Amino acid sequence: MKTLALVNQKGGCGKTTTAVNLAGALAVRGERVLLVDLDPQAHATMALSVCVEPGERSIADVLLRGTSLGEVVRAARGGIALVPATLELGELEEAAGRTLHPERLLSQALSEVELDYDYALLDCPPRADGVLTANALRAADVAVLVIEMGAFALQGALKAEAVFAELAGDMDARFELRAVGTLFDRHAALARELLIGTQARFGARLFDSVIHQSGRLREAAASGQPVQILDPACRAARDFQALAEEVCALWSPVPLHT
Ligand SMILES: Nc1ncnc2c1ncn2[C@@H]1O[C@H](COP(=O)(O)OP(=O)(O)OP(=O)(O)O)[C@@H](O)[C@H]1O
Ligand SMILES: [Mg+2]
Repeated sequence: MKTLALVNQKGGCGKTTTAVNLAGALAVRGERVLLVDLDPQAHATMALSVCVEPGERSIADVLLRGTSLGEVVRAARGGIALVPATLELGELEEAAGRTLHPERLLSQALSEVELDYDYALLDCPPRADGVLTANALRAADVAVLVIEMGAFALQGALKAEAVFAELAGDMDARFELRAVGTLFDRHAALARELLIGTQARFGARLFDSVIHQSGRLREAAASGQPVQILDPACRAARDFQALAEEVCALWSPVPLHT
């Protein structure tokens, strides 16, 4: 199982949209995908119209009470296996003070299901300093910095890059940092310049695929399904299919030229 965390301390930059629709695109390719909602806001859970009723379990049970992760997985739209979140997940910050190595809880829980899935995607909250993001970074093979192609995007991305690199050092984590541009408006000169600047700064670590601004993505979230189900032929669905192809290629052996 390959694990990717969608990160950025900036709010509203497209982490959840990327997590849900990249999961949908990987599932279309026949990959077995686990999406873990690591945000107490539970937006990924809502974007797949999963409800956690009183008495039902969520990621909070896994991280706070040691419930096995496999017991919490729900079958969601688009062939995605979802580990849902609830507001209760916010309690982990306080509980972490009473736990030895609280940042290792998720990677331990994920190791139980590593033969069941090809990819695990972790949707992180908009902060770099909390125990939830620390758990995601500790578990991740790749941390994908989600960059909104708007004003101050590059400054924000560089700051985030430095913060996550420092965290990796502090935590002795082994993830590789990559980046993806999103909310891209190809008609806006500023967005085009920003994309070029981001490419220059991140080089090969920036995925070639860029996610365009698309009303379809908002509609998909509002209707509780990945865009691949709502409208598989639309631009946003194709953007995420291209990103999924690049993600899979990260782990494919490079063909040898003779
Ligand atoms: N490419 C896009 N085109 C149009 N709307 C988008 C796109 N990406 C995200 N959005 C919209 O922007 C808003 C914020 O996106 P999203 O929830 O994915 O961000 P986030 O980084 O997860 O936010 P938070 O930091 O609060 O977790 C949502 O309303 C979402 O539908
Ligand atoms: Mg989010």
